[in-house]
Amino acid sequence: MELIVATRNAHKTREIEQILGSGCAIRDLTAYPEISEISESGTSFEENAKLKAIAVSRELPGLVVADDSGLEVDALEGAPGVHSARYAGENASDTERIAKLLRQLSKVNAKGDQRRARFRCVLAIARDGHVLATFEGVVGGKITEPPRGSHGFGYDPIFIPDGFEETFAELPEQVKNNISHRAKAIRKLQAKLPTLCGEG
Ligand code: IMP
Repeated sequence: MELIVATRNAHKTREIEQILGSGCAIRDLTAYPEISEISESGTSFEENAKLKAIAVSRELPGLVVADDSGLEVDALEGAPGVHSARYAGENASDTERIAKLLRQLSKVNAKGDQRRARFRCVLAIARDGHVLATFEGVVGGKITEPPRGSHGFGYDPIFIPDGFEETFAELPEQVKNNISHRAKAIRKLQAKLPTLCGEG
């Protein structure tokens, strides 16, 4: 089975590959430099995932999967949410995004339950410009500081998933890829892939 993943984020591609396993050949947009950046102008993960899947599947044949994901922090009323990638500006690093988030949390003096947060991932699968289905995965946890660990990407060093003491960046990749928002969404997609492949 072949899938195109509508991303140039090598971390996302690697996680999706690991979660789907060897039965699925994955290519991402690094193989297609001619495809331009898709503007994520939606107001929800679902809207943005659909925008990306539609745009790329208009350009490339076959099944295209787009992942839109991010971190929602209760004390920040769900921020950074859909703005997770651009939270500290267009060209900021993961370290700068984490620093901004921790600054915002200290401004509101978030303690205990107010540090609750969740990662959310919505996957949209499309073919020929039409969305076939969307799937959502969520993992709850809390924000810790200072950042810890070197695995993963993004906000992983400050997120401790429920049931663990370690951050996503400290846990082995296989553990994150078993319990993460992305893993949950991908498992739902995986269950529907045989049917989706038969359609169209
Ligand atoms: P997107 O490419 O617009 O979906 O941006 C997602 C952003 O959310 C990433 O750049 C990260 O900052 C954050 N994010 C999404 N998933 C994860 C994850 O699994 N770990 C850490 N950060 C994540």
